[in-house]
Amino acid sequence: MRTQVVIIGGGPAGLLLSQLLHRDGIETIVLERRSRDHVLSRIRAGVLEWGTVEMLRAAGVGARMDREGFVHDGTYLAAQNRGFRIGFKAATGKPVMVYGQTEVTHDLYAARDAAGGTIIDEAEGVMPHGLDGDAPHVTYVKDGTEHRIDCDFVAGCDGYHGVSRGCIPPGVLRAFERVYPFGWLGVLSETPPVSDELIYANHERGFALCSMRNARLSRYYVQVPLEDRVEAWSDDAFWDELRRRIPGDAADRLVTGPAVEKSIAPLRSFVAEPMRWGRLFLAGDAAHIVPPTGAKGLNLAVGDVHYLHTALAAHYRDGEDAGIETYSERALSRVWKCERFSWWMTTMLHRFPEQSTFDQRMQEAEIAYLETSVAAQTAMAENYVGLPY
Ligand code: FAD
Ligand code: PHB
Repeated sequence: MRTQVVIIGGGPAGLLLSQLLHRDGIETIVLERRSRDHVLSRIRAGVLEWGTVEMLRAAGVGARMDREGFVHDGTYLAAQNRGFRIGFKAATGKPVMVYGQTEVTHDLYAARDAAGGTIIDEAEGVMPHGLDGDAPHVTYVKDGTEHRIDCDFVAGCDGYHGVSRGCIPPGVLRAFERVYPFGWLGVLSETPPVSDELIYANHERGFALCSMRNARLSRYYVQVPLEDRVEAWSDDAFWDELRRRIPGDAADRLVTGPAVEKSIAPLRSFVAEPMRWGRLFLAGDAAHIVPPTGAKGLNLAVGDVHYLHTALAAHYRDGEDAGIETYSERALSRVWKCERFSWWMTTMLHRFPEQSTFDQRMQEAEIAYLETSVAAQTAMAENYVGLPY
């Protein structure tokens, strides 16, 4: 087989890249390790930056999002059970869109299928070759048979545990990492959301977040120790813990019900440099991870795809390679700013095991500053709705 760009990974980064390149007249083949059912059943991010919304529209996959998503003009922050609001629209002129990653992925698969795109799922042992030459190829095994695809470029959109990042030689690749000493226990429940906008809560018992998917589906999180096992958390124990950490009026309104999904995710900050090596490009979680506190993971993946598809389009359309040459630098410049924001939100809102009374006062002062300063609110809002590409 031959194609122009082999895309490893059928998550949001890989699918959106495939869809945008298709609209640029560039052929791709997507290789995905898992089954489609598996990919479509993962519950992950929930908040889209406005730039992400515009990218999805430009890719021709915005119609259901515009019908079913919820535009949020602001969010609530809370400390010790008392909340206040930060208005994104008022501060920046832009809102965010609440529309789940599961739905985004669903819409992207539907669009690729409708356009006759090739997505090979349950592709095992995917391996790129010849990335530092002019004629790379990718091998994989499907139903016990090995296949080979010759191509011009390889896009590594295969997430944190993928194969692509490891193809960059150790002497070239640099990794920067912070692992946080806690995780998020998340629950999805078929109950009406407790609030019309998200609530991010700092509390002495730990962080909590009230989010949503739609008018009948809520998503809630509480900070838990890394050692906690999800089986040890009954639904009742979860609801009791959430209630203790959020503002009193929200706790009184909270409607509880059985968890339809419950899982614990560890929190990590991670960046790999460079994001291009020869004919390999990394995009999304393959190159960087953020703790979910700033709602940036999916949005960062979309930002990378913006830089990458415009670079590849200029290469094929005009023979212009400046975008390819500067891809890593341009993407990383935005990535590091979003890493900073996610780290800042995480540091401000969570309880750390070694936290001193001084550290605690610093958090309280940071939150009080945000409550009272228009400048601080504008800086937070500018990052939350998404920095420009
Ligand atoms: P992924 O979505 O990870 O997609 C990568 C794809 O590549 C996967 O489908 C994988 O199966 C495939 N793949 C991997 N290895 C190979 C291989 N060797 N060959 C072929 N295919 C391969 N962000 C938030 O903002 N809020 C959240 O609440 C949130 N929750 C999260 C919970 C979890 C458990 C995880 C893992 C992430 C979460 N994120 C969250 C982050 C967000 O979901 C990611 O940033 C986003 O999915 C990145 O998209 P991606 O396409 O780069 O990677
Ligand atoms: C979610 O709805 O899953 C969600 C929302 C905001 C975040 C993280 C996760 O910061």
